[in-house]
Amino acid sequence: MSAFEGRHGSAGAPRAVRGSGGQFGAPSQDNGFVPVTTTSALAPGAMTWVVVERERVLIANVEGVFYAVQDACGHRRAPLSKGTLDGYVIECPLHFATFDVRTGKLLSGPVAEDLRSYAVQVRDDTVYVKRASSL
Ligand code: FES
Repeated sequence: MSAFEGRHGSAGAPRAVRGSGGQFGAPSQDNGFVPVTTTSALAPGAMTWVVVERERVLIANVEGVFYAVQDACGHRRAPLSKGTLDGYVIECPLHFATFDVRTGKLLSGPVAEDLRSYAVQVRDDTVYVKRASSL
């Protein structure tokens, strides 16, 4: 069985990550964290997206620290993972709103809402995101 179950944004064709943890790493025995990617799959300055519980989640590597926020701009729902990452600032590809990937806070642009941010853990080479339903 493959390392990840379903959709994942880094390899072109998306793959999914089962909310229950799938076969990659340990199933979520620890407070709702599910494995989504590996640290070696996402270089510093890069971002990708995965699906957790039917929600697109953007994963970013900022100088070796991993962050996760919703992958939908609050303005017109553009996929932020298709935008740019400059330091900790994500810029929307559609109308250029900017957000702090560390917190999901809106920094500028034509939107009124922050992004949902997700807790992230890294263990060994695996990046885990906490399911929204576990928050
Ligand atoms: S869709 Fe992101 S700023 Fe309009």
